[in-house]
Amino acid sequence: MAVNRDQWNSQIGFLFAAVGSAVGLGNIWRFSYMAYEHGGGAFLIPYVVALLTCGIPLLVLEFGLGHERTGSAPLAFAKISRKAEFFGWWPVTFVMFGIVLYYCVIIAWCLNYCFYSLSFAWGDDPNGFFFKQFLRLPEGPMDIGGINYKILFSTAVIWFLNWLIVFRGIGKGIEMANKIFMPLLFFLTLFLVFWALTLQGSVDGVVAYLKPDFQKISKIGVWIDAYSQIFFSLSLGFGIMIAYASYLPKDADISKNAVMTSVMDSLFAIVAGLGVFAVLGFMAHAKGLPISKVVTESIGLAFVAYPQALSIMPGGTFFGVIFFLSLVVAGLSSSISILEAFTSAIIDKFNMDRGFVVTAVCIVGFAGSAIFTTNAGLYWLDIVDHFITHYGLVVVGIAECIIGAWIFDISRLREHINKTSSIKMPPIWDGIIRYFVPAILVIIVISDLVAEFKAPYGGYPWFSLIMIGINWMLFTLIAAAFFTRFPWHYEYMLYTPDEDNEE
Ligand code: PHE
Repeated sequence: MAVNRDQWNSQIGFLFAAVGSAVGLGNIWRFSYMAYEHGGGAFLIPYVVALLTCGIPLLVLEFGLGHERTGSAPLAFAKISRKAEFFGWWPVTFVMFGIVLYYCVIIAWCLNYCFYSLSFAWGDDPNGFFFKQFLRLPEGPMDIGGINYKILFSTAVIWFLNWLIVFRGIGKGIEMANKIFMPLLFFLTLFLVFWALTLQGSVDGVVAYLKPDFQKISKIGVWIDAYSQIFFSLSLGFGIMIAYASYLPKDADISKNAVMTSVMDSLFAIVAGLGVFAVLGFMAHAKGLPISKVVTESIGLAFVAYPQALSIMPGGTFFGVIFFLSLVVAGLSSSISILEAFTSAIIDKFNMDRGFVVTAVCIVGFAGSAIFTTNAGLYWLDIVDHFITHYGLVVVGIAECIIGAWIFDISRLREHINKTSSIKMPPIWDGIIRYFVPAILVIIVISDLVAEFKAPYGGYPWFSLIMIGINWMLFTLIAAAFFTRFPWHYEYMLYTPDEDNEE
């Protein structure tokens, strides 16, 4: 063996880490809203179909590639074909120099709000407090203003925690952290859900969330959203799951881990949604408004609607602290997975010392996060997020299928997976990866592109979208090409022992 690779200490440690990556802010503040909008309980049909036909097969592919080729995304792909290497670098570059930079800032806001919950710092105007006082949001994205030091400070804390965990490596760092984070997160979430269900009006909220409307799922857009949500929620197309699987022991049960990761991720989203809608139901009841007037998602949900509810809820302070703490925990377990995807790629390629790489990556990352702590930070993160998660992910997903199924031998990969897995992948899996998943992803890109050209995203001026979003994408493409060009520190790393690579 060319190099000594770190390894997970236990299968459960790996499972927790994969679930930690998958379960993130999206599960808490996005899934339930999507279900509510797209037919309540009936949305589970497209969701489960998407999970079975795309989520699990692709997760098995990523786990399988990382395990069989034993490497981070760039190494795993380069071991298949040197020409494929770029498609390993691009995702780890755009997660590292895109997503995680603002993801950490959002976690930092949650940290600030943990403290604000203690005194209900938002007073009787959570909306004004969040946008005007806390973020100091200007008119448009180009109006950066200055850095918000309280946000910069909490962002530094989050980066420090990331550093602390990833620095210590796989077993002692990431695995250990997730072994604490995951049980803690499940416990806190269940606690909040049960509490929320005791509030007056909660049942109305839950009914609004889950009442099935089968009419809605006849729309193609609902299906596209279900597929995109599964994709994002399982952290697919980022190179993360490939890196995590590369630290598995030889006899790891790949497909069982993939199924368990997906099931836990989905269950978490569904259960967390109960809590979210119970609170919204309570608020609607308390204010005498219909539910439809109080529902929101993502940032509006966590930083405006929740604070409103907390102020009028018995024990709201405690509830608020726990809610924001659980967002911090869910966020951190995802951000460390991003750092690891990039770190492992650099270590694989340049054979550098982990401590050095992680320290450098965290310093650069913190510096990069600073732009999102300015007054216009929210606009910037919204735009960058839109482009990366809509196009980056999907393109990489398609590339992965092509590399895994067309350039590499997909049935050989399946044999490898089935050798040690208790759930055997049927031959149809080959076809799903070869044709079905790429087809779905192409449909998603096309529908996104159509929406893109119909109206500028989010009502932003085209100029800002190009300057911020498109340029950011270009930057990650160039950086990925840059990393690709370097030679591997040991060329023989590219060959797996039991194989004669063509060429
Ligand atoms: N899967 C995470 C979620 O559902 C998001 C995430 C994105 C995690 C990118 C890691 C990397 O929120």
